[in-house]
Amino acid sequence: MADDRKEEIQRAFDAAAADFTALGRHLWEPIGAATAAAARLRPGDRVFDACCGTGASAIPAARQVGADGVVDAVDMSGPMVAELRRLSAGLPQLRAHEADVTEWEAEAYDAVLCGLGIFFFPDMTAGTDRLIRLARPGGRVALTVWRDGAMQLAGRYLGRAVAAVTNTPPAKEREPHLLDRINQVDSYADWLTGRGLVDVEVVAHELRLAMTPELAWLVIIGSGFRRGLAGLDADTVEAVRRQYLDLLRADGVTELDTTTLIGSGTTGSAQEQ
Ligand SMILES: C[S@@+](CC[C@H](N)C(=O)[O-])C[C@H]1O[C@@H](n2cnc3c(N)ncnc32)[C@H](O)[C@@H]1O
Repeated sequence: MADDRKEEIQRAFDAAAADFTALGRHLWEPIGAATAAAARLRPGDRVFDACCGTGASAIPAARQVGADGVVDAVDMSGPMVAELRRLSAGLPQLRAHEADVTEWEAEAYDAVLCGLGIFFFPDMTAGTDRLIRLARPGGRVALTVWRDGAMQLAGRYLGRAVAAVTNTPPAKEREPHLLDRINQVDSYADWLTGRGLVDVEVVAHELRLAMTPELAWLVIIGSGFRRGLAGLDADTVEAVRRQYLDLLRADGVTELDTTTLIGSGTTGSAQEQ
């Protein structure tokens, strides 16, 4: 993966790990449980959980495959993996690894999961194709992305708060990304079908977070938005927090859309591959 961007993403998630767990029960866990459910796992299955974070989908997957199954849960952030090891201590079938999933070599998993990770790949299509090839012919794949508009308000208000506090121009809107074109049920289903999956289903997993001051800030420090605070000292971060909450309050923002698209399908038969 391109080194600068990879390091930036890794640093953000390294810093976010403990707060990521705190945000988990509000956000990551319901989405992860729905991602694991879409893979229709059976006892004894071998599962690859890519970009596992602190285990939102890996932990329910490990429960579903049981003691005879295996879940290889992989994330490039060491602190995230350490947190997952702590949270999954009673599930020996869950093996947590610190690695870049786009370089993972093992193959022939019964199922491949990736919750909210594929859009971080430097080439989302090539990285996803590579993940899909880790599943055996006829294996299940479940890949979750944000639906159009999800999470955006939090990022926008954080950007305004950082600009106001640091007296700098507002950060530029991010570069256009493939996800912007496939963040609806139909376009995402078409894209997954183009990846060679059959019987593709995409379900919008509706979720809204109440933007209480605690949760509104946890969304920033317990997610990839943490990148927006990189390089700021503790006093400046505290000033940003207050400004962000003031701006949300002034505009009457009480809710954050965090809806995801849970896409799943089956890999083609051995002959088709
Ligand atoms: C938004 S979090 C999602 C974590 C988890 N799947 C969940 O749903 O809670 C994205 C995760 O992807 C990881 N990640 C991004 N690119 C990666 C890569 N190429 N290899 C391994 N992990 C990656 C980050 O470290 C981060 O933990």
